[in-house]
Amino acid sequence: DWSMAEFKAAKIAEIRAQVGSSRVICGLSGGVDSAVAAVLIHEAIGDQLTCVFVDHGLMRMGEADQVVSLFKGHYNIPLVHVQAEALFLGGLAGVTDPEQKRKFIGKTFIDVFESEARKIGGAEFLAQGTLYPDVIESVSFTGGPSVTIKSHHNVGGLPERMNMKLVEPLRELFKDEVRALGRELGLPDVFVGRHPFPGPGLAIRIPGEVTRERCDILRKADAIYLDEIRNAGLYDAIWQAFAVLLPVKTVGVMGDGRTYDSVCALRAVTSTDGMTADIYPFDASFLQRTATRIINEVKGINRVVYDYTSKPPGTIEWE
Ligand code: XMP
Repeated sequence: DWSMAEFKAAKIAEIRAQVGSSRVICGLSGGVDSAVAAVLIHEAIGDQLTCVFVDHGLMRMGEADQVVSLFKGHYNIPLVHVQAEALFLGGLAGVTDPEQKRKFIGKTFIDVFESEARKIGGAEFLAQGTLYPDVIESVSFTGGPSVTIKSHHNVGGLPERMNMKLVEPLRELFKDEVRALGRELGLPDVFVGRHPFPGPGLAIRIPGEVTRERCDILRKADAIYLDEIRNAGLYDAIWQAFAVLLPVKTVGVMGDGRTYDSVCALRAVTSTDGMTADIYPFDASFLQRTATRIINEVKGINRVVYDYTSKPPGTIEWE
């Protein structure tokens, strides 16, 4: 794509001018945006870049391995893999307010990046894959009064005091443009086509308190849901699909026993930029099959519901 090739060349020049001979740390989240930012910056400044993948314990099934193998195996870009589950889950204990979760996660990411920067002898810059919609939605709702809808972890979730300056080469782009840039940079199609995944991860898909046990339950349900979506050939027709674990228990019956377990909600939407979204109209048979599998295979869930809310008035994530 000609215009993306131009954009890429211009951004590379801009990054070099901004960074000079300083070191840059780039946080990888497992998503497309941070991966594209990392590969672009690596083309610009080579080994002045260190990528840091913070495993906060809020990743989906198998996600950490996929990111590490893409970067180490495919690109040979140096990658520091930080195991920080205890740090994040410890700090989230007892926290139920969505904005408090987001702020804590944003601040803790920065703490980890700053500590990794010290280990490599200091980095003046922190690179992030912030997109245009992240910026808008953290600041205000377009056209309306200045109200924060939610603090996207890499914008409104950042602490006020930070030692590093930001490098955000994707800040003017929408998702489809980031995907085009990713292809231009040679990222594999399966990676570029992945559904968006939010930086705060499963924490904002577990309303109420986030615990290791609830993350494990949600990971299993989510993996089954995505497996069914792929088997049905629907993955690419959907912008984003995921399971949510509700802090509500209901009564059920399985075999000849009573169950009293959590409710799981399934969400799937179509969208072009994440700013507005419509629900994906699955066949009843798809939903029935998926619900049955989740209830039979995941201990701790005995009821599955489907979310029929578009955006607006809903948001895509539940928190
Ligand atoms: P909402 O829930 O605001 O989500 O309708 C719009 C899109 O943004 C993603 N999202 C985030 N991405 N950090 C991110 O990197 C965040 O803090 C964050 N919050 C929401 C969400 O998954 C959807 O694609």
